[in-house]
Amino acid sequence: MTPPFSTKAYKDSDHRRFWWWRIGDVDHDPLVYHLMDQHQRDLFAEWYRDTEAKNFIGECTPPLASVLMGFISGNAVKRVVQLGHYAGYSSINLGLVLKKITGGKLATIDISDRMSKYTQEWMDRFEFSDHVKVITADSASAEAADQAEAFIGGEPEIVLIDSSHKYEHTLKELDLWIGRLKKNGFIFLHDASNAAREYDPEKGAVAGALEKWCADNEYKYFVFNGGDATPGSTHAQLVHRDGRGLAVIQKCK
Ligand SMILES: C[S@@+](CC[C@H](N)C(=O)[O-])C[C@H]1O[C@@H](n2cnc3c(N)ncnc32)[C@H](O)[C@@H]1O
Repeated sequence: MTPPFSTKAYKDSDHRRFWWWRIGDVDHDPLVYHLMDQHQRDLFAEWYRDTEAKNFIGECTPPLASVLMGFISGNAVKRVVQLGHYAGYSSINLGLVLKKITGGKLATIDISDRMSKYTQEWMDRFEFSDHVKVITADSASAEAADQAEAFIGGEPEIVLIDSSHKYEHTLKELDLWIGRLKKNGFIFLHDASNAAREYDPEKGAVAGALEKWCADNEYKYFVFNGGDATPGSTHAQLVHRDGRGLAVIQKCK
């Protein structure tokens, strides 16, 4: 008999990408695996092997993916935009919950032609073509937003920003996407902790852009692991286990 599928083997890997599995009390498969059949789990294992071989390591991890998957399924969210897909990890997670649970759509935008082609291959292999559109463009461009809206069929309910992590570019993304977002919708920003200011140290990267943009536009925001919450090496002490932080803004006007 085939043993039940488990990603617990990742606990024994010393690869830096598997830090979540190595947290002491983590002893289960991330949420996404609970939605997958055996074929999809095999594909995902292949995705890990292939991205490791090509050194395409830059994905977000189960804490962020699980927040979004739970949010989408619990709120019947059907229109999602992602800025920054890299090798496709978050697109696989989001594509699965949209295809399997809400029947919704994801438009995902990345400036890298190479990474878009790579992500597209995996979207095809997961048979997500009705649910995920991969767009190669600057995520702060109006043309990209037009293309995204045309595919998802209206104003996004959620926009996930996980792209350049640069202060100026994040300001431009916020300016553009707040206007495109559905009223009461949410912008989530990965890497919004103080630790992640290192991506654009002079201006404070995503955290710096949030401070400036929200002050200028009179918006409130919240950061999971903002302020003095501990970064990187002490994930076990955190409750939201991702020390890079996750910010949320609600479009309330
Ligand atoms: C951290 S990775 C995204 C990871 C992905 N969300 C995941 O979890 O699997 C950041 C991506 O943003 C892209 N990027 C950087 N600058 C960009 C820009 N100006 N417009 C669109 N994408 C950009 C990079 O090419 C890279 O693929």
